[in-house]
Amino acid sequence: MAEGSLIGQVALVTGGGGGIGRAIALALAGAGADIVIADIVPERCDEVAARVGELGRRALPCPTDVCDTDQIRAAIATADREFGRLDILVNNAGGVSARPFADQSERSWRKHIDFNLVSLFAATSAAVPLMIRGGRGGAILNVTSIEGSRAAPLYAVYAACKAGMNNFNRTMALELGHHGIRVNAIAPDYTVTPGTSGNTSGPVDESIWFQPTPAQHDATARRIPLQRAGIAEECGQAALFLVSPASSYITGTILPVDGGAWASGGWVRDRAGKWVLAEAYPNLEEPPA
Ligand SMILES: NC(=O)c1ccc[n+]([C@@H]2O[C@H](COP(=O)([O-])OP(=O)(O)OC[C@H]3O[C@@H](n4cnc5c(N)ncnc54)[C@H](O)[C@@H]3O)[C@@H](O)[C@H]2O)c1
Repeated sequence: MAEGSLIGQVALVTGGGGGIGRAIALALAGAGADIVIADIVPERCDEVAARVGELGRRALPCPTDVCDTDQIRAAIATADREFGRLDILVNNAGGVSARPFADQSERSWRKHIDFNLVSLFAATSAAVPLMIRGGRGGAILNVTSIEGSRAAPLYAVYAACKAGMNNFNRTMALELGHHGIRVNAIAPDYTVTPGTSGNTSGPVDESIWFQPTPAQHDATARRIPLQRAGIAEECGQAALFLVSPASSYITGTILPVDGGAWASGGWVRDRAGKWVLAEAYPNLEEPPA
């Protein structure tokens, strides 16, 4: 899809060293973009840069902690210095730890907000002037979550941040449309990545990823209409569509990349494959016989 459509463009991907960010970086490089990989793990930046190079594009590994707004600004300034332009910003880095809100400390709220929201504001604020200066428009792609559109017990602050991202996404689409800058988001549900497989630090190493049990597979298959978890490359393709000319009249949208999970609301399949409301079926891992 969109082969060659991004030739000559420069994209910066936060958290581009692993998981969904890596898949987006490689999809954009496959369509011709040069890539700045702004990930906190230097080895991950280097690995993705090497893969981008194999695709024939220029890559700039740029170790960056998005929780530090100075580092974000520095990464974007480096992209400008090295490539002289910035056409695409992918705000992907973000994350969560599970805890009931009543047990969550103020320090943890603030960490979540810095990671998921302040980083978004800082990167957007630094990137937009470069796009406007270039006079060629641009594209911003925000990686939100299904949790930004529904209640998310154990993930209250994360869900609030992603809901904030969703409305920031829409508002930026309005504020930036007259510059030809389009702003869109993808909203994944459960996607197999290093982060969801226990590989949260160091290089990406699939040999240490934990594997879901058969019961967990079964629960996923019954909850998600397409009957499986997502893979990061599916987010990569959706993101590519939203930053490429193929979506030239789309801005302010939030595209679920979730196998139909958002559409399914509270419905799950029972063991016989029949759709039932989840409230009638409370323990997905231990279905009634
Ligand atoms: N995987 C899912 O199931 C899922 C579902 C919905 C939304 N999301 C969202 O997708 C995005 C990516 O998630 P993922 O599952 O690919 O995560 P991941 O942990 O697999 O990969 C995230 C990447 O970001 C990097 N990173 C971590 N902290 C960073 C920091 N402070 N600064 C810069 N880089 C940092 C990591 O090194 C890693 O390479 C997140 O915003 C997440 O909320 C993921």
